[in-house]
Amino acid sequence: MSSAQPALEVESIRKMYTEHDGVREVSLQLAQGEFLTLLGPSGSGKTTALMAVAGLTDLDSGSIRVSGKDVTKLPPSQRDLGVTFQNYALFPHLSVRENLAFPLKTQKKVKGRALSQKVDSMLDLIGLGHAAERRPKELSGGQQQRVALGRALIYEPDLLLMDEPLGALDRNLREQMQREIKRIQRELKATVLYVTHDRDEAMSMSDQVCIMNAGRIAQIDPPQKIYHEPNSEFVARFLGDANIFGARVKSKNADDYVVELTSGAATGLTSHRTFSEGDDVRIMCRPERTEIVPAGEEGAYVRARIEHISYYGNCFRVNGECLDTGASVIVETQQHSLPEIGATIGLRWAEESAVLLGEG
Ligand SMILES: Nc1ncnc2c1ncn2[C@@H]1O[C@H](COP(=O)(O)OP(=O)(O)O)[C@@H](O)[C@H]1O
Ligand SMILES: [Mg+2]
Repeated sequence: MSSAQPALEVESIRKMYTEHDGVREVSLQLAQGEFLTLLGPSGSGKTTALMAVAGLTDLDSGSIRVSGKDVTKLPPSQRDLGVTFQNYALFPHLSVRENLAFPLKTQKKVKGRALSQKVDSMLDLIGLGHAAERRPKELSGGQQQRVALGRALIYEPDLLLMDEPLGALDRNLREQMQREIKRIQRELKATVLYVTHDRDEAMSMSDQVCIMNAGRIAQIDPPQKIYHEPNSEFVARFLGDANIFGARVKSKNADDYVVELTSGAATGLTSHRTFSEGDDVRIMCRPERTEIVPAGEEGAYVRARIEHISYYGNCFRVNGECLDTGASVIVETQQHSLPEIGATIGLRWAEESAVLLGEG
C-alpha cells in the first residue's frame, strides 16, 4: 500500500430510499491520515453515506475504494474498517479488557500473548489501564466512549468511520473527547470519516469539512475556507451568522469584480467563480469581519438601525435592520463605545472579507 494512494475514494454513490430521501452523486476522497467530517442538518444523508462506505447498506450505483481496493461488493468484515456509532453498545457482561479483545478474538488473526499485548497498549492509548477489569456500567459516559473508540481502533483499520460518536455526551465531556479523539488519531495517523451535526465539532476536529444538504454534497473544503468562502447561502448560514446583501455585477476584469449593492454603494471584490455583467448576486460577510462606521461616512456600504446589543465578555454582538431592505444584520465587535439602540450606523468591510454568492 503506497502512502500516495488515497485511503478512501467514494465515486458518485447513490442510495435512495424514496424519490427524495437518501444520498445521490456523493463523491469524496480522503488522503491517508486525513480527518474528513460530513456535516449537515438531520436527514441530509450523512448516516446513509457512512453506512454505504461501511458496507451496511447496498448502493443503487457508484463505487467505493479503500486504499485503492474496490470494496463496493464486499461485506463489511472484508473492508478493513473500524466503525463507532452514537449508541456504542459495549458488551455489558464483559470487562473493558474483554470488550477490547472481542474484535481480535472474532477475527482470529492475533492470539495469545500478542493479543494481550495489543489490548494492553490500547488500554494505555485510551487511558483506561486502571479500569481494565471494570464492566461498562462501572464507567462514566466518557470512559465508555473511549472503550468504544478503542474497540474500533484495535483492528488497526485502514479507515475509521464514526457516526455522531459523542452525541450522547454532555457539552464539557464532548469537548474533552473531541481532543482525545484527535490525539489518538494523530498518534496512530488514522484516517477518519466522521459524522456530526455539530458545527463546532466539525470545525475544530477536521482537515476537511463536507457540508451535506438534502442528500447531496454542498461543499467540501478545509474549515477556514468553508467558513469564510462558502459557495452558497445554505453553507454560509449553516456554519454561522452571515450578513448577506443583494447586489448586481457592474463590471469585471478577470477575477476582479465591481458590484453595486441594493443600497447604491459600489464595492470591489475578487471571486474565482464566474459571473457576468448585470448578474444578480449577493455579497456575504461574517459578523466579525463587518465593521461599524458612522452612518454618514463615505465608504459605508450599507446603513442599518441598531435593534439590540448584547455583551459576550470577549465581544459585543450588535443586531440591526438594514434601512433600505429591512434585512437583518449582525456585527461582532470589540469596540467599546457603541452607538445606542435605535441609532443609525454604517457598515463596511475590507474587500477581501466579502464573498460573492450566486442567486439561490
Ligand atoms: N432505512 C430507511 N428507509 C427509508 N428512509 C430512510 C432510511 N434511512 C434513512 N432514511 C431517510 O433518508 C434521509 C437521510 O437519512 P440519514 O442518512 O439518516 O440522514 P442524517 O444522518 O443526515 O440525519 C432521511 O430523510 C431519512 O428519513
Ligand atoms: Mg445520522
